[in-house]
Amino acid sequence: MTFNTLSVIGLGYVGLPTAAIFAGRGVDVLGVDNNASVVEGVNRGEVHIVEPDLDKLVRDAVSAGKLRAATEPEPADAFIIAVPTPFTDGNKPDLRYLMAAAESLGPVLKKGDLIVVESTVPVGATRAVSERLASLCPNLRFPHQGEDASAESDVHIAHSPERVLPGHVIAELTRNDRVIGGLTPNCGKRAAALYDIAVEGQCLLTTAATAELVKLSENAYRDVNIAFANELSIICERLGVDPWEAVELANHHPRVNILQPGPGVGGHCIAVDPWFIVDSAPNDSALIQAARTVNDSMPAHLAGKILDAADTMSAPVIACLGLAYKADIDDLRQSPAVDVVQHLAAAEIEIILAVEPHIETLPPELEGVRGVTLAELDAALESADIVVLLVDHSVFKAIDRKRLDGKQVFDARGIWR
Ligand SMILES: NC(=O)c1ccc[n+]([C@@H]2O[C@H](COP(=O)([O-])OP(=O)(O)OC[C@H]3O[C@@H](n4cnc5c(N)ncnc54)[C@H](O)[C@@H]3O)[C@@H](O)[C@H]2O)c1
Repeated sequence: MTFNTLSVIGLGYVGLPTAAIFAGRGVDVLGVDNNASVVEGVNRGEVHIVEPDLDKLVRDAVSAGKLRAATEPEPADAFIIAVPTPFTDGNKPDLRYLMAAAESLGPVLKKGDLIVVESTVPVGATRAVSERLASLCPNLRFPHQGEDASAESDVHIAHSPERVLPGHVIAELTRNDRVIGGLTPNCGKRAAALYDIAVEGQCLLTTAATAELVKLSENAYRDVNIAFANELSIICERLGVDPWEAVELANHHPRVNILQPGPGVGGHCIAVDPWFIVDSAPNDSALIQAARTVNDSMPAHLAGKILDAADTMSAPVIACLGLAYKADIDDLRQSPAVDVVQHLAAAEIEIILAVEPHIETLPPELEGVRGVTLAELDAALESADIVVLLVDHSVFKAIDRKRLDGKQVFDARGIWR
């Protein structure tokens, strides 16, 4: 079971580091992305995302001739699919990118190939990939078509969800344990052999459906726990109790560990993946649905408090510190911070200074929105009447507290307590 060539489909936050790490272990890696500017950048040894240490890894792999990129797949021993799996406006899984990526492999697939779906998917999606490819490649035998000792499938397909923490992706890609769900046991073993090249953590073998649900459960678990902290913070406000102090004291109980409240839940994973469970089991997921509702209501709740304060001032300038969905990253997807700024703008606040050191232009949701400009931290602190801390970026933690004197402060992350 040797893997001399690997193709990684989708060169984003997950795919590019994965491609670079395998290339660093001596595998010939082709990264495939349908965004030509991503491909051109990677071929120049450049990265288009903020992730510590990724730039050097990519530069070294490209200059060693082990990593290159293209817009179309080529034949390889193994394929890792790491394309987006968002949800639709109706909170349903949107598998268009996954299926397009799978279909793009049809022309290059051959007997003995391995396909691993790393994208987070609803239960059954890995099997659906196998079914789609079987319809495109009638001369190859696929794992969902049945396999026994005498009739192994020609193509092996497994799901191995990615669990990396943005900002720590390089270390976590190699050190984290991997859940690997084969459509058949043979598929799982093949995928484990691939990850053995790069992963120091354990490879835990199971079925594809279990692996799919494990990943969704991990993120739904986080979402439910964050929703508890957020709901508690609103209860604390109503009862005149400091939520941060209450959580801190409750956590002195040896069996209690309440998470920190915040302005909501964002990102491509925790705010999205619970809906995949809800879609599969709508009548059995009341708690998971309630958690989504609580977390999604937080930006409007915070904006309401800020607007109440703004109402007491004449033409207040509001500085919103942070737009990313979490600390020290540039990822703005589903960010509750962006949502808060949108609420303030919708209430016709005249001057909203959005400070986000990790980006150079406003995201599409805020581009051209009346009143909103991207501002430097110093200038924003200088002129703001109201300062709203939305993201606990390190640069904001380092702000001299004296600079907040005389301003109305909303600290949604509890860093200035
Ligand atoms: N970002 C994370 O921290 C993280 C963590 C765990 C799991 N995941 C999951 O991993 C998957 C990928 O997420 P991401 O954050 O890397 O996404 P991303 O948006 O950063 O990158 C995806 C890339 O895929 C490309 N793409 C889309 N369709 C394509 C196609 N048909 N062929 C080739 N390229 C295509 C896009 O151009 C983009 O560059 C998602 O399912 C996500 O839920 C992400």
